[in-house]
Amino acid sequence: MGDINTPTVYNSFYNFRQTWNGRNRDLASQAFGVIENPIEMGDDVNLIIPKLQKHREYNKEFNSIYKDGISKDNIIDAIAEFEKALITPNSPFDKFLRGDKDAISSRAKDGYALFKSKGCILCHHGINIGGNLYNRFGIYEESNSSRLGRYEVTKNEDDKFVFKVPSLRNIELTSPYMHDGRAKTLREAVEIMTEYQLGRYMREGEIDDIVEFLKTLNGKIPKIAR
Ligand code: HEC
Repeated sequence: MGDINTPTVYNSFYNFRQTWNGRNRDLASQAFGVIENPIEMGDDVNLIIPKLQKHREYNKEFNSIYKDGISKDNIIDAIAEFEKALITPNSPFDKFLRGDKDAISSRAKDGYALFKSKGCILCHHGINIGGNLYNRFGIYEESNSSRLGRYEVTKNEDDKFVFKVPSLRNIELTSPYMHDGRAKTLREAVEIMTEYQLGRYMREGEIDDIVEFLKTLNGKIPKIAR
């Protein structure tokens, strides 16, 4: 059992750093860490090489792409390249932004207006609607987490409880929410954000509208992953 909520690999290529505390600058360094992490795959990259070399297919394919065939760097590179293909474009909201005014419901349009006017967009923006900056989790309320976020990497006091702002693409499908999974539903997650990050009160109907908007961020799962 890991001690942090597993983030989705979809669209991770568009995140400016990988993992919640941003310790990995890119997909390659993240993949490398997972293979060797004792509570994840608990393997040794060097021991994987002879295992893969036993497979004719892998040998053939690696040799056709990399000059030096199956090697530690090439295994990591291949995984990172594969992950770049795991993007989910063409969500209803993407279509809406491209000019298809009927791609999302009027409820979702209200939700989008609130997402902007209430301030969610200050942190969740850009191609991944998040994933491009760090911020403190718990600005108006203490988040009381046992995980210390960026501090775990930098040991800088100011970085306590600072996390990578997560992408909101496909968010309806990736319950539970927050780095420690404290929110089981999207509604709960939005309530926590409203209180902790914005220090606001929102009416039930407003929260529902934002949830409706968030549901328009489900994109098309690529064939390669089906
Ligand atoms: C000041 C920055 C900031 C603002 C404003 C903000 N968020 Fe967040 N949001 C974050 C951070 C940081 C996290 C990660 C929290 C954690 O450590 O688990 C997060 C997490 C989330 C999550 C859970 C994502 C997941 O993968 O578990 C959702 C959903 C979300 N925010 C939606 C919203 C909505 C909707 C609003 C507006 C009501 C909002 N956020 C406002 C910074 C912000």
